[in-house]
Amino acid sequence: MDYVSLSPGTLLSPVPAVLVSCADENGRPNALTVAWAGTVCSDPPMVSVSIRPGRYSHGLISSSGEFVINLCSEDMLADVDYCGVRSGRDGDKLSARGMECVSVEGMARAPGIAGAPMHLGCRVEKVLPLGSHDLFIARIVSLRVREDLVDKKGGIHLEKARLTAYSHGVYYALGKALGFFGFSVASPDVLRRRMKALK
Ligand SMILES: Cc1cc2nc3c(=O)[nH]c(=O)nc-3n(C[C@H](O)[C@H](O)[C@H](O)COP(=O)(O)O)c2cc1C
Repeated sequence: MDYVSLSPGTLLSPVPAVLVSCADENGRPNALTVAWAGTVCSDPPMVSVSIRPGRYSHGLISSSGEFVINLCSEDMLADVDYCGVRSGRDGDKLSARGMECVSVEGMARAPGIAGAPMHLGCRVEKVLPLGSHDLFIARIVSLRVREDLVDKKGGIHLEKARLTAYSHGVYYALGKALGFFGFSVASPDVLRRRMKALK
């Protein structure tokens, strides 16, 4: 198989495009779309978001030291895109889109976006200036999953959340489940049962 060499770039794909919500000192909320977000540690639970210093949200997150990561479902996608192409510096994006906020445990100011499948309340621990972007490394201090995605035994069913992915400038719906952690070594019985449950 031959390959075409390109200049080094940020083509890691797919990634989640998430809404990162925050608020100013008067509690006025804002959100920006972030595709460069990632899990960086499980114990303690930590994530990173990479944000250009020029973004309005950069100042809000730097001064408050907190933000909420909202996972995004298909029905939120136009809001996600809008919050990624308009700045809170020029007006209230959330009101413009009819997006509502809810309070999130552990956050003094940063709200969650109502209806998002999951809210991760994050407190900033380190900021690493990297060049075009600053990397905010944050501890997840609260985690909330929409009630309809949790079963009676506490199992989380993100397969029902209609989550989306972002790849090279295009938003996608997630397709059908192809396997699960460890499926390559699972017994035929477990494989059948788990895959059936994921349908
Ligand atoms: C799909 C998508 C992904 C984006 N990812 C990032 C990102 O990872 N980091 C960043 O700084 N900006 C990113 N942006 C751009 C910001 O969301 C955009 O500049 C936004 O208007 C900033 O809002 P603010 O000025 O209210 O903070 C992305 C935009 C889109 C549409």
